[in-house]
Parts: sequence; structure tokens; C-alpha cells
Amino acid sequence: MTYRASPADGNAWITGASSGIGRGAALELARRGYRVYATARRGAELEALSAEAVGLNGSIVAARGDVTDRNQMAELVAGIERDRPIALALLNAGGNFWDAPGDIGGDGFAKTMALNLQGVVNGLNPVFNAMRERRRGQIAIVASVAGYCGLPNSGGYGPSKAAVISLAEGMRFAADPLNVTIQVVNPGYVKTPLTAKNDFPMPFLMECDEACRRLCDGLERGGFEIRFPNRLALFMRFFSILPYPLYFPLVRAVAKGR
Ligand SMILES: NC(=O)c1ccc[n+]([C@@H]2O[C@H](COP(=O)([O-])OP(=O)(O)OC[C@H]3O[C@@H](n4cnc5c(N)ncnc54)[C@H](OP(=O)(O)O)[C@@H]3O)[C@@H](O)[C@H]2O)c1
Repeated sequence: MTYRASPADGNAWITGASSGIGRGAALELARRGYRVYATARRGAELEALSAEAVGLNGSIVAARGDVTDRNQMAELVAGIERDRPIALALLNAGGNFWDAPGDIGGDGFAKTMALNLQGVVNGLNPVFNAMRERRRGQIAIVASVAGYCGLPNSGGYGPSKAAVISLAEGMRFAADPLNVTIQVVNPGYVKTPLTAKNDFPMPFLMECDEACRRLCDGLERGGFEIRFPNRLALFMRFFSILPYPLYFPLVRAVAKGR
């Protein structure tokens, strides 16, 4: 049985908590009794979130930080740990930056990788090491169903999420013997400021509150992967196991709108 965190064991820490999934998950975990340290760059949004949590079973503490700054993440984690141990970490901050057509691997690609991949590792390193020391902890890393397989016009986003899934899978081997649980969260389309920018059809688009409830249920349940909505995730999994001569024409047909 792998370890599952509870509010009695310590704090929760969420990155990317000023909007969207991170914000919703912070509120949901506070409802479930956690003291949640909420990290993002926009301090005013974090303070508003903290105020919104007043009256819930738990609470939310604003802990401003930039996940692309490795030293800052180490200091932030050390600061939270001085309060109480981090029992549960949700490494969620992420985004998508585009390059001009034809500019493969430009500034947008580099920024996407710095945020979605290096940004996750910058948080993972200090929190995993603290959990390793006390032989207890739970870390969930937010990737995406877009990381299951290569998709048209995904820029650096799909590759960054594929890398994060691979990272979580690999970490699981090191973490299991240390009583540290590693999970990967693979959302489909969820209504957030990130997807509000999309101008293509988003099948099975989920409300953010519902997505966050499912995410937190998955944290409580354990198991390696938390995915929602299930229908889209299963479609994407199916695509990813197809032989390439079937995969390419099928994805091309389905993604005609993109
Ligand atoms: N929405 C979806 O359909 C969907 C689907 C699959 C996966 N995901 C993943 O879910 C995660 C959350 O996405 P979302 O849809 O909730 O997006 P969102 O509403 O745009 O939220 C992104 C969060 O990341 C934070 N962030 C961005 N850069 C940061 C940095 N350098 N340091 C610290 N925080 C930073 C933002 O806060 P600040 O700007 O204040 O820093 C914000 O709180 C992402 O990893 C995304 O890839 C989302």
C-alpha cells in the first residue's frame, strides 16, 4: 500500500495556484482540511484566494514564487517545512507559449520547457528530498493527456507534457521504497484561463470545479495516474497504442479542426 497524505500529517503545497486548476485544487484541499501553501507569481491573486478560504475546514497561505527559479523553490520549500512538513505536493504550474509559424524551437518552446518541465523539477527536488529524509510524502505532478502521444500543432506543450509523464514514471521507482508516493495528473480539456485562449473545438471540456474535485479524489484514492475526463483520456490512450500506419491517418482525421 503506498502512502496517502492526510491533513494530520502536514501541509499541502500547490504550485500554479493563482488561477485555474491550481486555484480550484487549493480550495478543494482546504475544504478537506489541509493548510495549503499556494504558490504562483501573482501575489494579489494568492491573497484573494487565501481570503476566499476563510471559514473552510483548512486554510490557504499565500507563498509567492516563480517555479522557474530553482533557488527560490528550494527556499520556499524550506520555509513551508519550518511551519510543518509538506505531506502533499501538487506540482501544477504550467502553460503554453507559441512560436511564430516555421520557428520551431524558438523562444516560446524554450519558455514552455522552462515552465512545464524544469519548473516541475525545481519544485520536485527540494520537496522530494525532504520527504525522502522522513520516509513519508505524496507528490502529484500535473502533465496532460496531450503528453500521451504526438499531436498536430502542439508546439512545445505536448513534448513538455510527455517529458513530465516520463519524469513521474521514472521517479516512481526511486520513490516507492522510500514510502513517497508519486502520481501523475493527466487532465483533458478543463475550463481555465489557459484553455480560454484556444480557438479550436475542445471535446468533453470540463468545468474547473468538477475537475478539481476529481483531482482531489484521485489524491485520496492513490494509484499512479489521475485522469479526467475519462472518455477523452481513454480515446487518447487508445491512439497512443495504435501502430503508426493507423495512428497518423486517424489522428489527422480527428484533429481536422486544429
Ligand atoms: N486547462 C486544461 O484544459 C489543462 C489540460 C491539461 C493539463 N493542464 C495543466 O494544468 C496545469 C494548470 O493549468 P490551468 O489550465 O489551470 O492554467 P492557468 O489557469 O493558466 O494556471 C496556470 C498557473 O500557473 C502559474 N504559473 C505560470 N507561470 C508560473 C511561474 N513561472 N511560476 C509559478 N507559477 C506560474 C500561474 O500563475 P501566475 O501567472 O500568477 O504565476 C497560474 O496560477 C498546467 O500544468 C496545465 O498544463 C491544463
